[in-house]
Amino acid sequence: MTKEQTWSQRFESALHPAIARFNASINFDIELIEYDLTGSWAHAKMLAHTGIISPEEGEQLIAGLEQIRQEYRQGKFHPGIDAEDVHFAVERRLTEIVGDVGKKLHTARSRNDQVGTDTRLYLRDQIAQIRHKLREFQTALIDIAEQHVETLIPGYTHLQRAQPLSLAHHLLAYFQMAQRDWERLQDVSRRVNISPLGCGALAGTTFPIDRHYTAELLKFDNIYANSLDGVSDRDFAIEFLCAASLIMVHLSRLAEEVILWSSEEFRFVTLKDSCATGSSIMPQKKNPDVPELVRGKTGRVFGHLQALLVIMKGLPLAYNKDLQEDKEGLFDSVNTVIACLEAMTILLTEGLEFRTQRLATAVTEDFSNATDVADYLASRGVPFREAYNIVGKVVKTSIATGKLLKDLTLEEWQQQHPAFAADIYEAISPRQVVAARNSYGGTGFTQVYQALLAAHKLLEGTD
Ligand code: ARG
Repeated sequence: MTKEQTWSQRFESALHPAIARFNASINFDIELIEYDLTGSWAHAKMLAHTGIISPEEGEQLIAGLEQIRQEYRQGKFHPGIDAEDVHFAVERRLTEIVGDVGKKLHTARSRNDQVGTDTRLYLRDQIAQIRHKLREFQTALIDIAEQHVETLIPGYTHLQRAQPLSLAHHLLAYFQMAQRDWERLQDVSRRVNISPLGCGALAGTTFPIDRHYTAELLKFDNIYANSLDGVSDRDFAIEFLCAASLIMVHLSRLAEEVILWSSEEFRFVTLKDSCATGSSIMPQKKNPDVPELVRGKTGRVFGHLQALLVIMKGLPLAYNKDLQEDKEGLFDSVNTVIACLEAMTILLTEGLEFRTQRLATAVTEDFSNATDVADYLASRGVPFREAYNIVGKVVKTSIATGKLLKDLTLEEWQQQHPAFAADIYEAISPRQVVAARNSYGGTGFTQVYQALLAAHKLLEGTD
């Protein structure tokens, strides 16, 4: 970069080349170019609209900006380090194309309000895309859930067998998490979609600009009320990273379950070849790389959230170059969340097969119907705590004799309590155990069918 091209005449020598590289953001903020061009288009229109520049000058600037957009889309725009950042790169190219009038574009604007505008426009688009990906992920969950309402799967607490579940109920838990993610991003959008354009470097401008006009052109819902806040606020990016981190929390939990389920110890799912990988040395292996990568990539998104919090902490008003550090983590988080949502959706849709035979056996080989025995007695008048203690004893003796509850004879049951009758066997069959949990939001089949209907409703008529 030469001093004439960017900064004022107060500089006498060019930057040290290593410092120029250190200072430059063009290698990564080129990601913002389409938004920079759009923001500049709105600014140019406003300059003409308010009479700060002539209508003809406005048209020239807009035509020049459009040409840069075409050049970029055709792969013909390659600004180097000497351009420093995307904003200078565009302004410089504009001046090459339209001549001196290009130098008028930056009237009543600073890179500080410009970069804030670009980042918000970028994030607004990306949020819309992520919300769309969340919808695809939710659709995949519903599709599998629908096939498995009556497939039973062991349910766990403390990773110990607890009570059996409808597999659909288990999958719909993830649907609900994704629903919150979808709603949370909508809420974050409200604070992303506020225009800082016209805040200037920090204090506003001496020109008679119209901030509402640019905000309207750029489809912002509102404008920042305080210019200092407008140029230095990155809350919206932190909020997005929080929402992105929660998406990753949810994806990583599902990923972990798939990894467990595909292990020899569980054998609940088979990974199909299209979504599994092999080992370079152990020929028998089929590895769950996709969910492992999702689990692993969660760390980078959390890291980016932490990084931006630390960047912002104690930062004096208003713009400081530290803020240039907001971008790479933000871009990487967006790309990571999108890639993980896509991969998990493909994994669900075509990479997993639930081993229904194995699952059917799994729910019969444990004591996860013990609560139902206690409930059985409690519903026949035995106080629950007393019933609980009786069943604890039954489980203890059963374990000692190598039996499961279903193997006990009626006589053995009645020795424990006279309230036991022949219907105990039906009451503790896994299917009945699941069906009976018919409280609202429970795993009972009637509830799960209702939940599926409700899930479909949530997806209907949304963007
Ligand atoms: N590349 C800069 C950034 O991303 C643009 C804003 C520069 N502003 C300044 N006053 N140096 O933050």
